[in-house]
Amino acid sequence: PEEAESKFTQETRDMLSSIPKQKVWWMLSEHIYQYQNFWYRAEEIQGILSMQRNFKALDSDLIVASYPKCGTTWLKALSFAIINRHHFNTATSKEHHPLLTSNPHLLLPFLDSLYSKDQNPDLTCFSVNNRLLSTHFPLEGLLECIKDSKCKLIYICRDPKDAVISFWHFMAKHSPKNFGTSSLEVLFERFCDGVVGYGPFWDHVLGYWKMSLQFPQKVLFLRYEELKNEPNHHLIKLAQFLGYPFSAEEVNEGVVEGLIKLCSFDHLSNLEVNRNGKITIRKGEIECSAFFRRGEVGDHVNYLTPAMVERLDKITQEKFLDYGLQI
Ligand code: A3P
Repeated sequence: PEEAESKFTQETRDMLSSIPKQKVWWMLSEHIYQYQNFWYRAEEIQGILSMQRNFKALDSDLIVASYPKCGTTWLKALSFAIINRHHFNTATSKEHHPLLTSNPHLLLPFLDSLYSKDQNPDLTCFSVNNRLLSTHFPLEGLLECIKDSKCKLIYICRDPKDAVISFWHFMAKHSPKNFGTSSLEVLFERFCDGVVGYGPFWDHVLGYWKMSLQFPQKVLFLRYEELKNEPNHHLIKLAQFLGYPFSAEEVNEGVVEGLIKLCSFDHLSNLEVNRNGKITIRKGEIECSAFFRRGEVGDHVNYLTPAMVERLDKITQEKFLDYGLQI
């Protein structure tokens, strides 16, 4: 069993053997484990334990946070492009923009995987003045690490119906051998029950949502759908929040539109690095192309039955009702 694997610390092994576990839905030999109300794979338990023990956020840290498949790659690209724009704004350096040759996940590493591999990983980042970091961990898991810091968190949320479909495609790409035809129904059930990696989705969203209401200078809460609809407006807001506001000249010169184009689905997904490159996140190699599928709002209608849509919408409404959150 995973609990006994020698790559884990004794603390992780003890934890894994004492907390609730369930079979991962698509791979019957693997488990996910419940820790502090959320579900994780074994290596993520190792990651969260060592992060909680060793990571202290700096005041200048900027952390992109999300539930998986909600637009993390896009938000990473946008945040990176915003805060580093003065270094890559001349005609020559434009050609060398890191986003043209590196997948956004390499430019903003996941704390989750860094800490799952190493108790004290090197957090030196590519960005110049701030460390740009990222995580799928829920806010509750991060609290100890950020409580004494003025770091900022940028959270992206998405309609869970689209997130579950995106997740299903992502998994299908990486687990073809174990993928049965009923996999979507099985995943859907697990998603509704909250028993999926980093789930329950709604608790994940609410943690960041509540903090964004209480401390708007600390957490910026974005929605994938809004970014799609009004990218200019939200990019200006994002830049302001990150501490890199656009000047009036930049707005007039079309810098905002330029960054939106640089980070657009069409542009990023057609770059050689994202078409044919591979990166290592957590366990194994992932094709960069897996992070770019359709990039649209509402694709779930092509996969979920009306009954599934109704069920998921009902759960979302019930969970968010008391918190004034609409998705
Ligand atoms: P779809 O599977 O619906 O196409 P994450 O980055 O959190 O893993 O989320 C992946 C989702 O974001 C995928 O959704 C992917 O296509 C979409 N995506 C990736 N890059 C994007 C971009 N630059 N603009 C808009 N959507 C993007």
